Amino acid sequence: MHPALLLLLLASLLHVAAAVGNETSTSGNTSCTPARCGNLTISYPFSLSGVQPVYCGYPVFDLTCDNGTGHAFLRRTFRDHLFRVDNIFYENNSLVAAVQTTFPGDSGCPVPDFNVTSSLSLYPFNISNTTKYLVFVYNCSLPRDVRHELTCANNTMRASISNQWNRMYDPGGPARAVDTVGCQYSVVPVLPWSELRSARDYAGLVRRGFLLEWAAVPGDCAACNASGGECRYDAGAMAFGCFCPSGRLQPATCDLFLPFQFSAALHSSMCSSQAAASSTI
Ligand SMILES: *[C@@H]1O[C@H](CO)[C@@H](O)[C@H](O)[C@H]1NC(C)=O
Ligand SMILES: *[C@@H]1O[C@H](CO)[C@@H](O)[C@H](O)[C@H]1NC(C)=O
Ligand SMILES: *[C@@H]1O[C@H](CO)[C@@H](O)[C@H](O)[C@H]1NC(C)=O
Ligand SMILES: *[C@@H]1O[C@H](CO)[C@@H](O)[C@H](O)[C@H]1NC(C)=O
Ligand SMILES: *[C@@H]1O[C@H](CO)[C@@H](O)[C@H](O)[C@H]1NC(C)=O
Ligand SMILES: *[C@@H]1O[C@H](CO)[C@@H](O)[C@H](O)[C@H]1NC(C)=O
Ligand SMILES: *[C@@H]1O[C@H](CO)[C@@H](O)[C@H](O)[C@H]1NC(C)=O
Ligand SMILES: *[C@@H]1O[C@H](CO)[C@@H](O)[C@H](O)[C@H]1NC(C)=O
Ligand SMILES: *[C@@H]1O[C@H](CO)[C@@H](O)[C@H](O)[C@H]1NC(C)=O
Ligand SMILES: *[C@@H]1O[C@H](CO)[C@@H](O)[C@H](O)[C@H]1NC(C)=O
Ligand SMILES: *[C@@H]1O[C@H](CO)[C@@H](O)[C@H](O)[C@H]1NC(C)=O
Repeated sequence: MHPALLLLLLASLLHVAAAVGNETSTSGNTSCTPARCGNLTISYPFSLSGVQPVYCGYPVFDLTCDNGTGHAFLRRTFRDHLFRVDNIFYENNSLVAAVQTTFPGDSGCPVPDFNVTSSLSLYPFNISNTTKYLVFVYNCSLPRDVRHELTCANNTMRASISNQWNRMYDPGGPARAVDTVGCQYSVVPVLPWSELRSARDYAGLVRRGFLLEWAAVPGDCAACNASGGECRYDAGAMAFGCFCPSGRLQPATCDLFLPFQFSAALHSSMCSSQAAASSTI
């Protein structure tokens, strides 16, 4: 390739990379060193908004930290501080999340009438198949098979644990049709091995959250990390990158042999321009 052409190409790449880097707002910190929020360690595919540059994680896994309580929350939910993240198990792609909101109902018996499945539908999460479900039936003459009745001020409520999402209680499902006309239903996932010994325990089960698994995210972060690199995701290019001690951004690991010098120059120029762009903010 003609040197001038190469320069031109690099210059236009710098331009693109600068626009990407400009999304960051981390007062010049370009490192993806794991961040902390409370006792949670945050690293790829998660990132901590305002602390780590955006390219440290996969965009939907961006978290915010409530510094006051030390709790982390999924950032891209329709309401702020809705899904709290209590634990992340990087080794098996799973996390413990909980809905943090106030529920309607009598003050004594708040009902978590919140559809977790639909509110997480934009996330690449699956509710673990070891999950239990807490089923609420309330505000009606209650079916006999539902245990643990609670006497609330102005309504009745029963709660029970089920192994599955019980289709009985879907809107328009069989339970609706039979002897429970007028009932309201709610189902929330709870942690595996949850048990309801008395109805009053339900609030604790809801608070402890549930287990989610995340579907494969771009890149093999473990392999990149093992080769001494730092995992990154460039949302502009929609590509995983392994940032190496040499200052190069490689497509997979730092061990990779690149056949073309140009390719390496391209990656390193993208990185350094990204670093330069974010350090000017
Ligand atoms: C970021 O880029 C946008 C357009 O791409 C520009 O309007 C804005 O001024 C830039 N912000 C900073 C802080 O450079
Ligand atoms: C950058 O952030 C990491 C945590 O993500 C922190 O350990 C490091 O000290 C920060 N560096 C600077 C220069 O602020
Ligand atoms: C939390 O604290 C970190 C560092 O102490 C700071 O960078 C960040 O902006 C704070 N976040 C909020 C939401 O206040
Ligand atoms: C943080 O501490 C809380 C309360 O002690 C605990 O429930 C949670 O599992 C801990 N999380 C991590 C990541 O250690
Ligand atoms: C992942 O590992 C953690 C800790 O060993 C465990 O508590 C959790 O249940 C595991 N997740 C899945 C989906 O099996
Ligand atoms: C039960 O029904 C009453 C009257 O329709 C309503 O005011 C109340 O909010 C309902 N309770 C719950 C928990 O939804
Ligand atoms: C129960 O209903 C009565 C009358 O409808 C109302 O005044 C009272 O505030 C209700 N109590 C609760 C806890 O909702
Ligand atoms: C929750 O939302 C999912 C997906 O939108 C739907 O299939 C399910 O029936 C809903 N469950 C309840 C109890 O409303
Ligand atoms: C859950 O899924 C795993 C595979 O992902 C499977 O091996 C296991 O048998 C399933 N467990 C249940 C209870 O369905
Ligand atoms: C989530 O569920 C979908 C469909 O049931 C399945 O194709 C996918 O492999 C699951 N992902 C994980 C991480 O279990
Ligand atoms: C990468 O490796 C370091 C140790 O070399 C470890 O502290 C860190 O947690 C690892 N990060 C990920 C995302 O696995």
